[in-house]
Amino acid sequence: MESFVRESNFFEGNAPEAVAAEYGTPVYVYNEKILRDRMRQVAGVITKYPYTANYSVKANTNVHILKLALEEGLNCDAMSPGEITLLLKAGFPKERIFFIPNNVAESEFAFSIEKGIMTSLDSLAQLELYGETWKALSAAGKAASGSERCAVRINPGVGAGHCDKVVTAGKKTKFGIQEADIPEIFTIAERYGLKIAGINQHIGSLFMDPQLYLDAVTNLLRIARGFEKLEFIDFGGGYGIPYHKLQDEARFPMEDFKKRLEPILDEFVADYGYAPLFKSEPGRFCVAEGSVILGRVHAVKQNNGVTYAGTDVGMNVLVRPSMYDSWHDIELLGAGVGSEGLEDRVGRQDAELEGSRDGRDRFEQTVTGNICESGDILAKSRMLPELRRGDLIAVLDTGAYGYSMCSPYNSRPRPAEVLICKDGSVKQIRRRETIEDILALM
Ligand code: LLP
Repeated sequence: MESFVRESNFFEGNAPEAVAAEYGTPVYVYNEKILRDRMRQVAGVITKYPYTANYSVKANTNVHILKLALEEGLNCDAMSPGEITLLLKAGFPKERIFFIPNNVAESEFAFSIEKGIMTSLDSLAQLELYGETWKALSAAGKAASGSERCAVRINPGVGAGHCDKVVTAGKKTKFGIQEADIPEIFTIAERYGLKIAGINQHIGSLFMDPQLYLDAVTNLLRIARGFEKLEFIDFGGGYGIPYHKLQDEARFPMEDFKKRLEPILDEFVADYGYAPLFKSEPGRFCVAEGSVILGRVHAVKQNNGVTYAGTDVGMNVLVRPSMYDSWHDIELLGAGVGSEGLEDRVGRQDAELEGSRDGRDRFEQTVTGNICESGDILAKSRMLPELRRGDLIAVLDTGAYGYSMCSPYNSRPRPAEVLICKDGSVKQIRRRETIEDILALM
């Protein structure tokens, strides 16, 4: 694909320069149609049995995006009381929220028990603490009805992911309860009068080959047979998206995955005697492709044979490349043609702007941000059309773990977020942070 922005009609007819002029750069821009499309895809992973896709909101917690997930019929996973609060604010009823924390204080369990939000316990120690908290709140008449029901997170012994930092199961991670400790789960549950309503797992983040996940499903279902009368079984998230789309990377084969998943479930249901509610926990798949960051090139230089294109998309705005060596495609949207002022560009037509990039040489450039760290690199030795001062660029696939992981490092306030609605209108869904916002906390 030559241009994702153009081929997906990402801006729905709005000129990217006009969006940049109105909201400034860097700015996160979302496309409602793409977000809804991906959410619909995950909602349909299992159709034969009771199923909910739980959007894992850590990928993106903007309340306006959570509202889209609500409208698309997704449930949600939350990792903290903060995420639960945002979900409640977006309008999710408590029954559609699943709390999956790890290593948290009693106060966080009190929060979920009082609100009646299904909670998964990540270790025997956390199950014990949940039990103690539930017992005390129950005696005080403060536990919501049904909060004796909880879930346990199983570590299935194998993991997967795009780098070690995001593998969340297997022998080298902190997550979940190992299989050998399962008998102890029942002992603790009995001691406090808890009921194990569900089991969940999450093997890791970003795989394009469904086989690993299918193996993990088979394995969890084997483990599930040791639990009586489960209400739900949650297989976790991790479905990947093509970050190399400009090189025509294949998409996650969703249809093939669904076909291969069904017989695995059939066999389990026949054996177990009934179909519990099946769940998955996709984060990235729902939101990653529905956002680009618009950024501006401010300085180009040569240092020891390397061409550095310096932009305003620093590691504070998008940390994934510095943190995981992650790849994000970059598109030159055209515009900066030298020393003209920004105002001159805004009134021009897209076609004219695009024309300005034609005929530019392509060569290896290292695209950096404006943060004072040498690790502040957005793309290393990337083959791109020559970048020039004033150019507007789009960094692709930034909807997941983009804004949710950004920071005001170097005291650069966090960017604004803008939604291109399906009718083509442009809505600001989060204002740019200001230095006053930062000062207000001190
Ligand atoms: N469920 C649990 C319990 C998780 O820990 C995660 C992600 C998910 C679901 C959703 O996984 P997804 O479908 O998005 O792969 N910051 C990293 C990703 C870390 C993901 C951690 N857990 C990144 O930017 O690649």
